[in-house]
Amino acid sequence: MRTKSLIIAALCAVAVGCANRASEGKKLPLELAQMAKNGTLPYAQKETSAAAGAAVDPVKAALEQSLKEPYANDFGPESVSIAGYPAKEQEGYKNFLAKCTQCHSAARPLNAQYIDDNAATTDKWVSHHESGVWKRFVKRMMAKPGCAVTPEEAGGIVAFLVHDSKVRKTGANAAAWKARRKKLLADFKKKHPKRYTLLYGN
Ligand code: HEC
Repeated sequence: MRTKSLIIAALCAVAVGCANRASEGKKLPLELAQMAKNGTLPYAQKETSAAAGAAVDPVKAALEQSLKEPYANDFGPESVSIAGYPAKEQEGYKNFLAKCTQCHSAARPLNAQYIDDNAATTDKWVSHHESGVWKRFVKRMMAKPGCAVTPEEAGGIVAFLVHDSKVRKTGANAAAWKARRKKLLADFKKKHPKRYTLLYGN
């Protein structure tokens, strides 16, 4: 289902991209296709249409990249229960679901190893403790072209991710988290052995 909606989003992005180009008075895709068929496509036109495509659709490109280059995280749940989370974190979760799913599913951050505290890390692919880790990641994602997260939303999203990582991955829930994350890694290794080695080593 998720893959299907990602594909639909990608197709919409293409449609919007084409509409933009047409309204700018450039060649319509059909005209370009015909010229390509006739062999009358000027080199400059090929160059600019390729460059324009890349510039217009960074989110579509990121989506395609996410499907081709998955993480173990991607195969876990795409939502969490926020019952009992403080109001700011609940608001952050809403924006997180709306905005952090433009280029990959919510599963990628939700099932990541990152825990925002300063405890010692003993197994970095399972429970990576680092104070400020979610602020660092949200900043990094916001720097990607096309990211729709606004500075006003960022604080709440970070607050949600920090709180959520502590609630679900530490204390009484630490053992259950570790077991789930190890299972995700083991399943991923079977399904995508090359990608597994690239990301997590042996
Ligand atoms: C514009 C596209 C885009 C948006 C929007 C986006 N991401 Fe990403 N994200 C990516 C891409 C591409 C990767 C893989 C490459 C990388 O890590 O930079 C990624 C990877 C990740 C990873 C895995 C990194 C790792 O090394 O473990 C996490 C976690 C993540 N994103 C969290 C988020 C969060 C949280 C948000 C919302 C604040 C978000 N992303 C929004 C494109 C995006």
